[in-house]
Amino acid sequence: MDLKEQILAYLGQIEATTLATSDEVEQFRIAWLGRKGILKDTMAAFKEAPNEQKRELGQLVNQLKKAAELCISSGAQGAETIDQEDNASHDWTRPDGGAPLGAHHPLSVVRRDIIGILERMGFVVTEGPEIEDDWHVFSGLNFPAEHPARDMQDTFFVDRDPDMLLRTHTSSVQVREMERRDPPMRIVMPGRVFRNEAISARAHCMFHQIEGLYIDEGVSFADLKQTLLRFAQEFFGPDTKIRLRPSYFPFTEPSAEVDVYWGLKTEVDKRITKGTGWLEILGCGMVDPAVLEASGIDSRKYSGFAFGMGVERITMLKYQIGDLRAFFESDLRFLDQFQGEY
Ligand code: PHE
Repeated sequence: MDLKEQILAYLGQIEATTLATSDEVEQFRIAWLGRKGILKDTMAAFKEAPNEQKRELGQLVNQLKKAAELCISSGAQGAETIDQEDNASHDWTRPDGGAPLGAHHPLSVVRRDIIGILERMGFVVTEGPEIEDDWHVFSGLNFPAEHPARDMQDTFFVDRDPDMLLRTHTSSVQVREMERRDPPMRIVMPGRVFRNEAISARAHCMFHQIEGLYIDEGVSFADLKQTLLRFAQEFFGPDTKIRLRPSYFPFTEPSAEVDVYWGLKTEVDKRITKGTGWLEILGCGMVDPAVLEASGIDSRKYSGFAFGMGVERITMLKYQIGDLRAFFESDLRFLDQFQGEY
């Protein structure tokens, strides 16, 4: 067969071909137009052909290429409708094994649980700004200027305005609310706080606190103690025991730190409780009358208690997490472990 006959035979072959599926189209494309395809060979043979035949053969080669391309494009159109029909016969309501669901962040879970318990006791969620002035974070809370108690918390100040700072505790929201409203008030104040500390397994420059405040006529230390016991038993379990140790905060008098009894059964228990069996979970106290007065509340008529806790600390206790940094790294291998915690 000479080249002319060969090309005519190819043309007949293409004429007789219909491509139904996208697979067939692709195979045809490779066989005819591919790098080692028929058209390549035909072109090579064409180059070898005697000059006087080139004119006629050239036209035929062109025709062959066009025919192959046409066959592909009409095949591709047909294949598309077939693919669509395939879709139509696919049962889209069939379960597909499920897309991976995200999980709530452990801090969100614990924050929600803590707030939920306090809300059921009648506390109402209240929030305040993260960038605060000195009054609401310190002075209004009975931290006198230059008083060393300010060094209990390492503060980030705003360069342009020395009176402005990132709040170091959520107690600032207490002051805002006491100024804004009249007692009785029973509020819970969640939020981010900031301290200028080197980041380590136990400390971070940003963390979360939840604070509670109750002011009314005749609120006593017994009310505080009972509220905290109830809270601890709801959160850690009905048999949880607490103890109060005397402590100091400028804005409460008397002040205390609260421990829960963790136990000493395992080596881990011994390590995290430093051999005592007790773990500190929060700070608290009776609101200092000077703080009430500074916010315009009559301290002869009203009294109140406040308490504040760190969400990271309580989350670490609840899930036995050893490194605080894990909360802020967004590592899915860590976060996915909380899939079940809704
Ligand atoms: N604001 C205190 C802290 O950040 C905690 C606290 C709150 C203590 C309320 C007593 C009463 O350490």
